Amino acid sequence: MRLDKFLCDMGMGTRSQVKQKIRKGQVTLEGAAVLRPEFKVEPGQQICVDGESILYQEMEYYMLNKPAGCICARTDRQFPTVMELLPARKRTDLSPVGRLDKDTEGLLLITNDGQLSHRLLSPRYHVDKTYYARIQGCVTKDHIKAFEEGLEIGEDRPTLPARLEILEAGECSQVRVTIQEGKYHQIKRMFHTAGCEVLYLKRLSMGSLVLDESLKPGAYRLLTQEEIDALKGRAEET
Ligand code: URA
Repeated sequence: MRLDKFLCDMGMGTRSQVKQKIRKGQVTLEGAAVLRPEFKVEPGQQICVDGESILYQEMEYYMLNKPAGCICARTDRQFPTVMELLPARKRTDLSPVGRLDKDTEGLLLITNDGQLSHRLLSPRYHVDKTYYARIQGCVTKDHIKAFEEGLEIGEDRPTLPARLEILEAGECSQVRVTIQEGKYHQIKRMFHTAGCEVLYLKRLSMGSLVLDESLKPGAYRLLTQEEIDALKGRAEET
């Protein structure tokens, strides 16, 4: 890969900014200044900008506890995005895996691993997504049955079987719900069809990845190698 592209991808600035740094001798490769932006670099080489080492990692995986009020997009003119919550200097090829509504909180994976994103989002793979929700209305066994059987929410087909657990039933109920798809406003539309309204929604898990509850809303951390392996289905049997 060209040195200037590598530095751009790693979030070191725009193409022209990094070219300038290179030409001014601020960038070293294995300890020696490289003055040509088109110079080819290899993974594993030690590259420094102004003395700071830039570690090349092909893939990066972040877990974010998404707060309410920001949207799942790379950029937006109107609202803050989840990407603005990651470090200021970040690589430019990261994207959120799927979308949570602006008012939904909880687990969001952000990565540049397109293959994994596709597997987690594709309806073909039926990856479970579990949410905690507070519901206006009394959730009953009938709702559990309706969620299990699939609901008509105005799509071509009814929703796939979903698992609904009642944590507390009353005028305002608390539930855990697991769906295998990710249709627009899916859980809100399912409850609306079933005669209730979602007051609060938080994603707890996606496949094997579970929200780290020590992350406050708006906080993030890198995934551990075990979490990455498990998501990729390479978890070793114990
Ligand atoms: N279902 C919804 O209605 N909203 C979300 O953000 C996620 C699932």
